[in-house]
Amino acid sequence: MNFQIAILEGDGVGPEIVKEAVLLLNHIGEQYGHSFEFQYGKIGGLAVDEEGTPLPERTVELCKKSDAVLLGAVGGPKWDNETAERRPEAGLLQIRKELQLFANIRPVKVFETLADTSPLKEEVIKDVDFVIVRELTGGIYFGTPRERRMTENGLEVIDTLVYKESEIERILREAFELANQRNKKLTSVDKANVLESSRVWRECANTLSKHYPEVELQHMLVDNAAMQLIKNPSQFDVIVTENMFGDILSDEASVITGSIGLLPSASLGVGPSLYEPIHGSAPDIAGQNSANPLATLSSVALMLRYSLGLHQEAQDIEEAIEAVLHYGYRTKDLAGPSEKFLTTTEMGEKVRTTLTSKKVIMN
Ligand code: IPM
Ligand code: MG
Repeated sequence: MNFQIAILEGDGVGPEIVKEAVLLLNHIGEQYGHSFEFQYGKIGGLAVDEEGTPLPERTVELCKKSDAVLLGAVGGPKWDNETAERRPEAGLLQIRKELQLFANIRPVKVFETLADTSPLKEEVIKDVDFVIVRELTGGIYFGTPRERRMTENGLEVIDTLVYKESEIERILREAFELANQRNKKLTSVDKANVLESSRVWRECANTLSKHYPEVELQHMLVDNAAMQLIKNPSQFDVIVTENMFGDILSDEASVITGSIGLLPSASLGVGPSLYEPIHGSAPDIAGQNSANPLATLSSVALMLRYSLGLHQEAQDIEEAIEAVLHYGYRTKDLAGPSEKFLTTTEMGEKVRTTLTSKKVIMN
């Protein structure tokens, strides 16, 4: 089959890790008889520098007519003093909104072979395998007014947390569906002891729960959830939460696995979906060929599964990544102080050759 993929490299390590993803897709194409056509669009700091906006209209159009979008990462200290609208992150938020990517899926799975790179004890992280479903187009990230204003008592500043009931319902429904396909345990994370939006969130979850009798629904306050993720992460199957809680908890959760450089994400909506590693643009190591490409390569697997219906290919990529780690190959973020490690390009190549040898063995 023939697929159109929009590629948004972004800033920092973005271009390096995305390059490995493109090579992997071409490799998959050759091995399994598909063809991928790539079209590149600008986003983030580079777009600010070259076009004066973090999300040029052309990029939005390109994404809308593609089968799926692959994104590296955006941002860096160079743009720290830009106005809110010209910050690279604004491009990311805008593309999420433009494509209505309301469901951000962040799987967190511990690779057994990396258990010793996690700061948590091995017995705590054993069997960790859960998914965070983060609401991505509402809440305090997008609410208005968002402003500073001078009052007689000095500067006052407002951020606004708004949710429509329909927005809460649609993300909860995604999470119930996912839990239903997995181990049927859904933890809905909120701050219902303080926030009105969380109380409505809870009511919606309880109402929907009646349609999913097989799924066990549990409510958990976000402060407790932050603690439980470290104390007993294997209790979770699917976690669903609003935008900002999900942002914070997913970074916390990434530590369990040993490196944020491993975790992929899928942002699903009504049109083309977007795939990206959950880590940032890591400007401190940009251009050094040392970033871990595995989160991006895992994101490619999610793209094949969710957007292109290539389930076997997705699974083969995931198994190849697992095998590479099992053989002991590490990137810098995963290696111990005296351990040897691979560069970004070497790791990408290792995954591709492992895929090839796996295919040869299977045939
Ligand atoms: C993420 C990032 C973004 C977010 C930033 C870069 C705006 O942290 O995807 O988790 O907060 O959503
Ligand atoms: Mg984040």
